[in-house]
Amino acid sequence: MKIGLFDSGLGGLTVVREVKRQLPEASIEFFGDNGRNPYGPRPREEIVRFSRQILDFLAEKGIDLAIIACNTATAAALSEVQGAYPFPVLGVIEPGARAALAVSKNRRIGVIATQFTIESGAYTLTLQSLDPEVQVLGQACPLFTPLVEQGKTSGPEVEAAAREYLTTFQGSGIDTLVLGCTHYPLLLDVIRQHLDPGINIVDPAEATVAQAKSLLKTKVAAPAAVPPTYRFYTSGDPELFARLGSNILGCPLEHVERVTFPT
Ligand code: DGL
Repeated sequence: MKIGLFDSGLGGLTVVREVKRQLPEASIEFFGDNGRNPYGPRPREEIVRFSRQILDFLAEKGIDLAIIACNTATAAALSEVQGAYPFPVLGVIEPGARAALAVSKNRRIGVIATQFTIESGAYTLTLQSLDPEVQVLGQACPLFTPLVEQGKTSGPEVEAAAREYLTTFQGSGIDTLVLGCTHYPLLLDVIRQHLDPGINIVDPAEATVAQAKSLLKTKVAAPAAVPPTYRFYTSGDPELFARLGSNILGCPLEHVERVTFPT
């Protein structure tokens, strides 16, 4: 069983981490578009084009299922690419929205995400299609992804950005916050410190991988014939990717290759 995943950069490794936890027998092909990060400020057409290039690349690896491990690319491209490949393509937004509704008691949900994801309204539309009563408060956090890409997950710059963005939710009455960008779970400690106590924090990765697992259940049931392999590709610097990525996954990244596409 082989799962392909991609993101604009390192954030998607938070979804890889979850695949390793829930599907330890699965092989992984991961593409990080670090060379073109961030996607958040880009126009939809560009994000769709990048997503197609990467999915075409992953398709050649013989994957059984793809996960768009990026909320921004899910918001921009999922509806365009679903059905275009001989394997299922999952996004992170609908599973994230369902997971948030499952824990929210008062139906007031906050979402932090990139500029594109917030402006697209993808979370608000998905949450409201699942529960028309829900109230959604979104906040774009454009500095978070570049900080994570530089390996900064704590310290004064992260603190200052978190303070600025998360004041939106103080006294807002939300009982649940969705981490609507796969880079943000890497900032969890700082994010938590700037929220009112008791707010549920939802990382869509867990529900997304659970959905993948149920789609792959016939393959999950079969005993793994060979040990899983993990291959990583980046359009950025492979050494930096391997160094920061190994901190996220908690193990050395042995196969990291540089792959680029025409822009
Ligand atoms: N990790 C991404 C997401 O989930 C994208 C961050 C970015 O490139 O702006 O939205």
